[in-house]
Amino acid sequence: MFDSYNRQIQYLRVSVTDRCNFRCAYCMPAQGVKLLSHDEILSYEEFLRIIKILSKHGVNKIRLTGGEPLVRKGIVQFIQDITALKAITDLSMTTNGSLLFDMAGQLKAAGLSRVNISLDTVDPERFRQITRGGNLDQTLKGIEAAFAVGLTPVKLNIVLTNIITKPDIAYFVELVHRQPVSVRFIEYMPIGECQVGAGPGIEEIKELINSFGRGSLKSALSICGNGPAKYYTLPQAIGTFGFITPISEHFCGICNRIRLTADGKFKPCLLSNQEIDVKAALRNGASDDEIAKLFYQTIANKPQGHSLKNADGSTRFFRKMSQIGG
Ligand code: 5AD
Ligand code: SF4
Repeated sequence: MFDSYNRQIQYLRVSVTDRCNFRCAYCMPAQGVKLLSHDEILSYEEFLRIIKILSKHGVNKIRLTGGEPLVRKGIVQFIQDITALKAITDLSMTTNGSLLFDMAGQLKAAGLSRVNISLDTVDPERFRQITRGGNLDQTLKGIEAAFAVGLTPVKLNIVLTNIITKPDIAYFVELVHRQPVSVRFIEYMPIGECQVGAGPGIEEIKELINSFGRGSLKSALSICGNGPAKYYTLPQAIGTFGFITPISEHFCGICNRIRLTADGKFKPCLLSNQEIDVKAALRNGASDDEIAKLFYQTIANKPQGHSLKNADGSTRFFRKMSQIGG
């Protein structure tokens, strides 16, 4: 299935809940966000029906997101049910890792292939600050559990904010020598009016990585898929560093994804307020073909690129990141 700009759309990101046990400063305001009620959120049966239909129209890759996907009850069974659809060949999850230590084994057994985990700093106090209450140790144990059970390749997400310090970079440089991990730095996207202090730029991070006497970064191939990250590695490393630049260098030209929110809206682009209501159709008895039509309509509406501005010139995004799923 190709969109108007010849991009093949085979990747669906499914936000299974808007709830999260963290309140990361770059994702939502300190007081949190208004949460959806039970009835507003799609049931797993509804999600499955949509996934099943889309899998007949070219979608073969699914990422589960949140909020925090592991806080929704029944997620392991849901993963098992998606795995049973043989057309989905790549099933992954983005998580904050806080509940992974206990769940990694079950997730792997249910068919989850791999995880992306947020880890913005390895300083316990700064971690508590950026996540507004998170426990670093728990997340680190979750990451180790992901390695141990083979939810691999593990990717770590670091949003570039002023929370990052040189010891964090030193930790990541060590880590890529110890594990086949992908450590990815993501430019902060000013979405949802969240305030966070500006961090170092990509070039500054690269210079820091090069400053630890472990050699210099060299371009590398992605260890998994061809997403938006540009990958680099160090001479003796078994892992990689990735840089994701939605702001300084758009990657819309290779964007192969659409999103499904917890309240049942298709979103053609993360940075657009445009939504297509699939829940209403589902609950009004739409046929599989009618649901597929909404998918095609979403693809047809995929913009060529984003500008961090709406069509009317405003920069107001209706949803916070936790309500889309990153
Ligand atoms: N800018 C960039 N990345 C963000 N994430 C969340 N909010 C933002 C933002 N404002 C990323 C986090 C998390 C993933 C779900 O999205 O790295 O891992
Ligand atoms: Fe939760 Fe993820 Fe948002 Fe942090 S970035 S508050 S972990 S949804």
